[in-house]
Formats: sequence, C-alpha cells, structure tokens
Amino acid sequence: MTLRLDDSSITVAIVGCGGFIGSHLLDAVLERTRWRVFGVDLDFYRLQHRLNHERCEFLCADLADPAVVERIAQFPLVVNLAAICTPSRYMGEACEVIRSNYDHPAALAEACARSGAWLVHFSTSEIYGRTAPDSGELIEDETPVVFGPVAASRWSYATAKLLAERFIAGLPGLKWTVVRPFNFVGPYMDFMPGVDGEGIPRVLANFSTALLRGEPLKLVNGGKAKRCFTSVHDAVDFLFALFNAAGQDAGPGTASTAGVFSQAFNVGNPDNELTVAELAAKMRQIYAEIRGVDVATLPEPQNVPGEVYYGAGYDDSMRRMPSVEKAERLLGFRASTPIDVCLRESLAWFVNHYSV
Ligand code: UGA
Repeated sequence: MTLRLDDSSITVAIVGCGGFIGSHLLDAVLERTRWRVFGVDLDFYRLQHRLNHERCEFLCADLADPAVVERIAQFPLVVNLAAICTPSRYMGEACEVIRSNYDHPAALAEACARSGAWLVHFSTSEIYGRTAPDSGELIEDETPVVFGPVAASRWSYATAKLLAERFIAGLPGLKWTVVRPFNFVGPYMDFMPGVDGEGIPRVLANFSTALLRGEPLKLVNGGKAKRCFTSVHDAVDFLFALFNAAGQDAGPGTASTAGVFSQAFNVGNPDNELTVAELAAKMRQIYAEIRGVDVATLPEPQNVPGEVYYGAGYDDSMRRMPSVEKAERLLGFRASTPIDVCLRESLAWFVNHYSV
C-alpha cells in the first residue's frame, strides 16, 4: 500500500470526525500530512476552526444511510470512530447502542471490502468484558472474555463491539485494523451535562463538571474500579505509527502484513493505572492548584451505588490493564504521557472552555 504522508492525492475519510478523538485526529492530519479529509458526523461544534479549511470536506450524516456508507468507502483510508460509547446509555438504549456499534460498522466494513479501502475501526477496551479486580494484562490475541448476563444490559455495548470485530476479521477481502482504546482523556472529551450534552458523561468529564460546579465527585460503588488513563495525543501518535507502518507494508497476502493489517491493537498507557477513587483525589488536588484554593475547601467525594446512579442493569469492569507489547513490537509505539500531565491539561482546558 502506498500511503506517504506527503502525498496530496490521498483523502482520508474520518467517520465521527466531530467527536473527541476525531477532532484531535483531524488537527493532526492537517498538521502532519498533505492529505485531504472527508469528515462525517452529525455535530461539528468541536471543528469550528476547521470548517473552511481548504483540505477538508464535511458531511452532516451518519452510517444509517447506505448512500453515505458507499461514499465513505470510496476513499482509500477510512477511520471509523463513530459510536455511542457512554456507559450511561448502555442500559436504557441497548438497541440503539447495538445498531450504532454493530449494524453500522458492519455495513461500512462490507462496503470497504467491496471498494478495497483500508478500514481502521475503533473498537473498545470494553470487549475484554467483566474483568476482575485482580485481572492481569489484557493481551489482544490471547485473553479470554467474560461478559455479564443478558439482564446486565451494561454489556450491550461490549457485545456489539466484539461482534463487529469478529465480523470485520471474518470478512473476505477486507483490509482492516482494529484499535481498542483504553480510557482516552484530553481536551474536548465528552460534554458538560446541561451545557453541550445531556445525561452522564464518562468519568473525566463527569468529575471535571462536578469540580467546576462545586459539587461532590460521585464514586460509583466506592470508586474501586481501576482504569489506565491514556492521553488522546498518544492515541493520535499511535495512529500515525500505524499509517507510517502501512506506508511500508506491501498489503494483505505479503510477508510484511503481520505489522499492520488484520490486527487488533490495544492502545493504552499501563503506567497510568488508578482506581477511580485515586483519580478523584488527583483531580481535586490539580483543580485546587489551578484555582489557587486549598483542596480542603472542595466538597468531599460521595459514594453512590452503580444501579442508583446509572439505572438497573449497570455492571462494571474492575481492572483494565492493557498489554502494549504488540504495538511496541510491530509498530514501535508506546504511550508516554504521564497521568498528571494528562489530567492537568484536561482540567485546565475544561475550566477555560466552560468557564467562558
Ligand atoms: C467507557 C466505555 O464503555 C468504553 O467503551 C470506553 O472504551 C471507555 O469508557 C473509555 O473511555 O475508553 P468506562 O471505563 O467504564 O468505559 O467509562 P467511565 O464512564 O469513564 O467509567 C470509568 C469508571 O468510573 C467506572 O468504574 C465507573 O463506574 C466510574 N465512574 C464514572 C464513577 O465512579 N463516577 C462517575 O461519575 C463516572
């Protein structure tokens, strides 16, 4: 595959371009390459500064429209970030969650198989399922997965994402790579409830909102679950490691395809593991420093049962520790942004953005 970053004849289609990861990827593509971008989303508020860029074309649409799917697949490289991926929606909106995370990506994968486009599909670390507190490293091609029962509708999302991965991997002729994000954090993550979104965002945005409003941070089931928080800038660097490697890869069926195609990659930072309670403590401390106040003046975190907070059917993964050996070995990539740097950047951005 010829995929040079300085090749101005290449257009990358970014589906979910207006979202948290998509907006960062768009900036990086415009800054680091000469490619054009075909950006698809339903919402472009994060992209105001790019709407008139000469190398961008934007389409307000989603993958429910077969004509849109066919159009996207005409580009040589398709990055699919579109998904419903906030846990608070996995219970009450299970069917929509499954359509968004299985039906739509499957249709896009089929179109890419027909056209020959390389599909970089964003899956999730949640496909590893209901991990235990003492679960070890999650290894892409080894770790078995256990989900909760059907009544625990939290798993609607992970089930759909895992099925989409299996569909993609099984589709004859498709040139594919799957990315499994481990709790990416950074500016523009999710939303502030009541301002630019409704409901419960993921933990970083939720804690940031509570801090800004002077409310207690809510620790679901005591905040014992552990996550490895990963800078969105590292995530973008991973994609460029992938693009660079693909430029040197002759394509499926050749000896070198092991590096890029037909592979699922964890993208996470194992050095940044915290319990949610530890995350709350760090965020309170950093917020106090940003505001120049004593942390003791901020409200203490409060415990809340998961089923009260999110509704019936909530369940959790207790530890998500990525193995990053595969990305290091095949792509020479390892996430490197320390947790304090991630949180300071994210909180400073949140305070500045929403205080205005
Ligand atoms: C979610 C998605 O389901 C994944 O697909 C996605 O990959 C992942 O986010 C991610 O950001 O990468 P999860 O890690 O459970 O999974 O998302 P959060 O809502 O951020 O929750 C993390 C932990 O914090 C959970 O244990 C949750 O119960 C807890 N939490 C969340 C709180 O204690 N308080 C809150 O206000 C919010």
